[in-house]
Amino acid sequence: MTMLTVDNVTKEYPTPAEPLSVLRGVSLSLDRGESLAIVGPSGSGKSTLLAILGALDRPTSGQVQLGTVDPFALNDMNLAEFRRDRVGFVFQDHHLLPQLSALENVLVPLLADGKPTSADIERAEMLLGRVGLAERLTHRPAELSGGERQRAAIARALVRSPVLLLADEPTGNLDSATADSIGRLLVELQVEHQSLLVVVTHSEALAETMQQQKRIEDGKLLEN
Ligand SMILES: Nc1ncnc2c1ncn2[C@@H]1O[C@H](COP(=O)(O)OP(=O)(O)O)[C@@H](O)[C@H]1O
Ligand SMILES: [Mg+2]
Repeated sequence: MTMLTVDNVTKEYPTPAEPLSVLRGVSLSLDRGESLAIVGPSGSGKSTLLAILGALDRPTSGQVQLGTVDPFALNDMNLAEFRRDRVGFVFQDHHLLPQLSALENVLVPLLADGKPTSADIERAEMLLGRVGLAERLTHRPAELSGGERQRAAIARALVRSPVLLLADEPTGNLDSATADSIGRLLVELQVEHQSLLVVVTHSEALAETMQQQKRIEDGKLLEN
């Protein structure tokens, strides 16, 4: 069953002169449990594409479907729910809240449902254990290493069990040994959760661990 399909997506940004055409007809499909690496030069539209896949931004034209849902056909409330429940994002910068502990950061996405329950806290602790941070639950981001912060960010991205995990240069700020271990962890978790994983990366080693590898060039997605 194809879980994610992207059909002929374009994205233009308005400018005072002519519109800037960033994506010029991008298509892809991923089945359940599959992973895709996207590579391409800076400014080629990788983050733009990821934001559209995660329904954070609308395409200018074209279709995106996750499971049976076209997120851009949803009303604002359902679209917000879609983003919250179906998509997990990991960014190059961890985006953890500095005043919260690792555990509290992982609980943040669950606050939409009200005060965290003991089951929520158990789940967050379990995920932090899974990413190797069982001994770091009460540490704030400033009290974690760069790799540990990314591990916490991965646990946070998974806490609502998203079907689609998106990572935008998740190892871009890490030394190569740490980057390797974070890359392996992402793939392991994606396999365990049977989610879809799309990773934008400059690391060939990380890209090679994904089932599909594509390259953005001139606004098109090509086989790498
Ligand atoms: N909100 C925006 N408004 C106008 N131009 C944008 C916007 N976001 C990105 N761009 C432009 O689109 C191009 C692709 O950006 P981006 O997707 O961030 O590239 P990448 O992630 O591959 O480095 C860049 O030229 C960038 O300047
Ligand atoms: Mg980018």
